[in-house]
Amino acid sequence: MGRSLLSVENLTKRYPSRSSSEGEVVAVDRVSFELHRGEVVALIGESGSGKSTIAKILTGVEQLTSGRVLWEDGAVASKAPRLLRQRIQMVFQDPFSSLNPVNTVGYTLMRPVMNYQRCNGAEAERRVKELLDQVQLSPASLYFNKRPFELSGGQRQRVVIARALAAKPQVIVADEPVSMLDVSVRAEILRLLRSVMGQQGVQAMLYITHDLATAEILADRVLVLYKGRIVEHGTAKSILRRPMHPYTRLLLESIPNPRARRGNRVPVSLRGENREGELRLTGCLFAPRCPLAHDRCWREVPPLEARSDEGYVACFNASQSLVQTGAVTARDSGA
Ligand SMILES: Nc1ncnc2c1ncn2[C@@H]1O[C@H](COP(=O)(O)OP(=O)(O)OP(=O)(O)O)[C@@H](O)[C@H]1O
Ligand SMILES: [Mg+2]
Repeated sequence: MGRSLLSVENLTKRYPSRSSSEGEVVAVDRVSFELHRGEVVALIGESGSGKSTIAKILTGVEQLTSGRVLWEDGAVASKAPRLLRQRIQMVFQDPFSSLNPVNTVGYTLMRPVMNYQRCNGAEAERRVKELLDQVQLSPASLYFNKRPFELSGGQRQRVVIARALAAKPQVIVADEPVSMLDVSVRAEILRLLRSVMGQQGVQAMLYITHDLATAEILADRVLVLYKGRIVEHGTAKSILRRPMHPYTRLLLESIPNPRARRGNRVPVSLRGENREGELRLTGCLFAPRCPLAHDRCWREVPPLEARSDEGYVACFNASQSLVQTGAVTARDSGA
């Protein structure tokens, strides 16, 4: 693994509640992680878990409430939006709304190339065509003059990826980049994202998804987010094969393709109603859905602790969860 490029430390974001004038929503709660050179990290969690909020803070769209984001050279990314804009580029979920419909592909890409790479005219056009080749929109001269309505969703997302690369970023944050695309093109776009690592200066990627299956294609490490907190963190391989947190097991269970579902089945009771809205939780936020929850889980927040060489988990019952669901093999349990 390479050196840490970007460190996220105790990132917290609170929003005023949309439903009550006094309350607030803790969208992200003391989240820490590092992005190392040469790696893709997947941030996984269900709707509302705080994934896009983290992306927005990293790209300077939102300000954090507390915590900090540091570059390896010590620059405080979370206080320097200008710097952020260039070093971290975003690939959005919706390729239909993220491109201006009146501009040609060439125009869309010329602007960031001229701004960020400080070149103009013929040189910028040459670089744009190089980018189009890189995202496999060939022949580049054909796509240069097209407008978004003439492109498929997958082709538009390739233009969005080229636009991100045009700024010569060090980090790409891709927020659900394939969830609005036709299933048939999703794997191609994920492979393209994987292939841009190391190109045009890209050194690391944060891949945001609710779909654990796609993390296997793209990610080296996986962070599992539940209601704004990291509940498990490990290599993609270990998380997919030996998930430790009951919530990760639930996510794995929801993967429709059984071949991608490497772990054992999650107990059916995990599918139960999510009742925490009715309760005042002081402990684990997953307790209301967890079949293993006991008194301590309701009282105390489980800390994120190392449980193996490869993984961290925030669960008082992590080892019990493995045993109960049959994920511990005879070798693992020392038998
Ligand atoms: N501007 C805002 N004002 C108030 N609450 C917000 C705001 N933006 C997000 N939230 C709340 O913060 C929480 C996290 O939202 P966020 O969009 O980061 O989730 P997400 O994991 O990206 O979800 P999804 O998978 O649906 O995109 C949610 O409870 C959401 O309602
Ligand atoms: Mg989101």
